[in-house]
Amino acid sequence: MPNKFPKHVVALERSVRRRSLNDVYAAQVDYLIQRATAAGRGDTWEVTKGKLKVTKGSGRSTVACTVTFQKVKGKAAVEENQWDTIQTFLMDTGKVTQFGSLPWEVRQVTTVPHGSKLGSKDNAVVKYEDLYPAKIEEKEFDYGDLIIASPEQAFKGLYGLDPQIYRIMQNLQLAQMDMSKRQHIVLYGPPGSGKSSVFDGVRSLVSEESVLRIDATATTAAGAVKELLERRKVIPPIVQIEEIEKRGDTDLDWLLGVTDQREEIRKMNFHVNNVRKVQFLAMCTVNDMDEFKKRCKGALQSRFADKVYFPHPSREIMGMILKREITDLGEHGSVEWIEPTLEFAYDFLGLSDPREVKAICLNGRGDLVTKKYQEAFFATTNPDDYPDCRFKENGKFRTEYLDNMPAL
Ligand SMILES: Nc1ncnc2c1ncn2[C@@H]1O[C@H](COP(=O)(O)OP(=O)(O)OP(=O)(O)O)[C@@H](O)[C@H]1O
Ligand SMILES: [Mg+2]
Repeated sequence: MPNKFPKHVVALERSVRRRSLNDVYAAQVDYLIQRATAAGRGDTWEVTKGKLKVTKGSGRSTVACTVTFQKVKGKAAVEENQWDTIQTFLMDTGKVTQFGSLPWEVRQVTTVPHGSKLGSKDNAVVKYEDLYPAKIEEKEFDYGDLIIASPEQAFKGLYGLDPQIYRIMQNLQLAQMDMSKRQHIVLYGPPGSGKSSVFDGVRSLVSEESVLRIDATATTAAGAVKELLERRKVIPPIVQIEEIEKRGDTDLDWLLGVTDQREEIRKMNFHVNNVRKVQFLAMCTVNDMDEFKKRCKGALQSRFADKVYFPHPSREIMGMILKREITDLGEHGSVEWIEPTLEFAYDFLGLSDPREVKAICLNGRGDLVTKKYQEAFFATTNPDDYPDCRFKENGKFRTEYLDNMPAL
């Protein structure tokens, strides 16, 4: 009978000063696997070791090996916990003294759902770039120094979002004044309204290392996030979580804990109940507010008490975004594309997502002025995909637009 368990594909890596025989490294990987699955932990798990790959660098070489873990029988309910434990042992064993200051590191864990393939969209990828203390600057974050840059610079290139940015600054300043009074914040609004761009701005405002970013692709990252927070020497003062409403409830349990007064992350490890107190400001983005309100039986949304809405840009702001894009093109770009783009994409097609408007502008270029691009667009587009276009008749675009903009 085929099993229903996901595969966990672990990318192991170690940098070495002098190259040994591949067999030596292979034996080390075997040792990691053996420790990870010892004491009955791996009894119902199948482990496949991939080929070793050695890459020569300047001064150092990197040894890499992929190991796949998959539970093959037993109860589905315990899979996640067992995997957590196996992964923890794997990571800890990599740091044992025999590897000295050059540990075997888990660089990435890709969870491939049952029935899917490695590399498919539904894979959950967790990267561990800064998990290993040796690579982390050993200094505590100074919450007092949270804000280091002027907002003008950090949010440059974003237009019409001044009220949103103002509210985020107020929020950050409160956290800077007194971390214990911080208010978790949610940025919500339709796709392309600038939420992620503002996240980027916040990162440049407070410096990269002050922010732990959790991306949408790492959806089932609960375990990994817990790991990160437990193992990180330094807790970043800000955690950014993208598209939080798309995560499963159990995936967000850890967040409930840290965003209430207890500020704790709990985890069962080595038969001990580990508790770590953490204090950070959580910022998240949400497309679908109704969905967010349902998450964790509504508990989560009340933890994010500060809610800032991002509407789609107006026609004028869209023009400014286009101008920015065109300027980026340098001598290849022309501001003459802007008005025809707005007329076609914004007025005619009814598009308000800057990504889509941008695509039309940059692909159409000068041919938007002559309407050659629009003509080809009509021939290659299903009008049903443009529900906000008001210039349709019997399900078809009103192509007289090619001569003149039709009256409504
Ligand atoms: N007000 C704005 N000023 C300048 N650029 C903007 C603005 N709003 C959106 N953009 C541009 O539109 C693109 C999409 O923005 P962004 O990724 O920040 O949207 P988002 O709200 O995170 O969308 P999603 O919900 O799909 O993740 C980016 O290239 C961004 O620069
Ligand atoms: Mg986004």
